[in-house]
Amino acid sequence: MLETTSSLASSVRDYTYENGRRYHAYRHGQYPMPNDEQEQDRQELFHHICRLLTGGEMFRAPITAAGTPLPSAQRIRILDMGTGTGLWPMDMAEDFPQAEILGTDLSPIQPVFVPPNCRFYVDDLESEWTYPPAEAFDYIHGRSLAGGIADWPKLVGQAYTHLNPGGWFELQEFEARITSDDGTHLQSPLLREWLDKLEFSSQKFGKPVMNVAANLASMMHQAGFVNITNEIYKCPIGSWPKNPRLKEIGQVAKLALLEAVESYSLALFTRVLGQSAEEALEFVSRVRSEILRNTYHMYVRFYYVYGQRPE
Ligand SMILES: C[S@@+](CC[C@H](N)C(=O)[O-])C[C@H]1O[C@@H](n2cnc3c(N)ncnc32)[C@H](O)[C@@H]1O
Repeated sequence: MLETTSSLASSVRDYTYENGRRYHAYRHGQYPMPNDEQEQDRQELFHHICRLLTGGEMFRAPITAAGTPLPSAQRIRILDMGTGTGLWPMDMAEDFPQAEILGTDLSPIQPVFVPPNCRFYVDDLESEWTYPPAEAFDYIHGRSLAGGIADWPKLVGQAYTHLNPGGWFELQEFEARITSDDGTHLQSPLLREWLDKLEFSSQKFGKPVMNVAANLASMMHQAGFVNITNEIYKCPIGSWPKNPRLKEIGQVAKLALLEAVESYSLALFTRVLGQSAEEALEFVSRVRSEILRNTYHMYVRFYYVYGQRPE
């Protein structure tokens, strides 16, 4: 594990460029989504959506004991797995100045100037975790990792092992399916074709995007977690909701989805489905036009799932 600010980190910054997008260097080829500015902007929109959905909260696990703030003297350790641009741990570091917060990722794309209680490391979550028992965590968090993980039960098991007894584990994942209560989503044929291709290609690649979120609670149960809670939020796509808060979420989510189409597909469709870049980009552009045009009552389910390592 390499600290992001370390001068040794130069090889992990030897990014590769493919079809106009930039990809990670460490464990090259393991993660099919870009890490360039465009993707970082998308991640920031996504962070915003996640906070809007929960009314501003960044976590749902009761890490503030019985609803009261953690005592300021208490030093707790928090891990954010696959932190991306690091917005989540930086916001947490501000809110919990007494906590020590680590963020790990394949890409060192986090800012250099960060709160003093926040540090970033380049690491592959799928490798054996090397934290010694004395450095166990009190809270481990992971958000939007589907597509980057081949062995989810192993990941959940490693989180269990590296938590202190009584510590909490939380995963926030969206179901990569678009639905509606009135069936109008069925009138978006290109969107459905895109999701089918994404499901097929990500599964063939070995790191599925689909069928993850709804299975997290049972994976936590299998790993030995207790007090598991599965909260599901409907995230509207587009400005169709009447409720002003949901309308705002829907507008931001539509922008994020427009960006996500290329981020999620370009490498999978070219590397796994064998499409040319032109073919993949032309399809992406048609899917985006359909999303822009439609006013259907679509939404995506976001799962906030958390459980506790027994005392
Ligand atoms: C879609 S982004 C989400 C970023 C952040 N968690 C958030 O919610 O804003 C997924 C991140 O997970 C990282 N990632 C994917 N697979 C990983 C792995 N096996 N080990 C470490 N990081 C990984 C990617 O590099 C990327 O930055």
